[in-house]
Amino acid sequence: MKEADPHSFGIARLGGAAKAALVEIESDEYGGGRVDRMHSELFRTTMRWLDLNDVYGHYVPEVPAVTLAISNVMSLFAMHQRWTPALLGHLAALEMTSTLPNRQYAAGAARLGATDAEARYFTEHVEADAVHEQIAAHDLCGSYVSDHPDAIGDVLFGASCSLVVDNLFAEYLLTSWHAPARTLRAG
Ligand SMILES: [Fe+2]
Ligand SMILES: [Fe+2]
Repeated sequence: MKEADPHSFGIARLGGAAKAALVEIESDEYGGGRVDRMHSELFRTTMRWLDLNDVYGHYVPEVPAVTLAISNVMSLFAMHQRWTPALLGHLAALEMTSTLPNRQYAAGAARLGATDAEARYFTEHVEADAVHEQIAAHDLCGSYVSDHPDAIGDVLFGASCSLVVDNLFAEYLLTSWHAPARTLRAG
């Protein structure tokens, strides 16, 4: 329910082509000014389809540490100016690895009977992130590191962190999936 908010902190910390690129991506994430197209609202529709509580943070006390780690890494990079290059790399890694999984999520949702609206969060990301991937890698990170060559390591560090915590989460999820006695919730 906070999609795009952490990375938006980067906008005010950038200039030039990198700033324009981040604004372009974030504008899409926020629906280009239309509430019904905001990605967080698309996700709300999907949550409601699954009878999940869509109040922001509702499940925080129940989820395992690995789930919180995904959000915490993002917030750490967002809240500290020193980590701005890592925030950009983090976003690029997300955008560059989003399209194929979302295509599979969309197929799974359709198989479970989701309407177009209920699956739109996933279908939207198949198309949007195919574009965002290019903007994030080239216009955002590419411009940033050509202006700040010393920051290449931090950009890549941010991308690596994104992939590492996602992998940890995926391992937890799939291990739980294959062991019925385990739960996806903490404790
Ligand atoms: Fe999105
Ligand atoms: Fe995106």
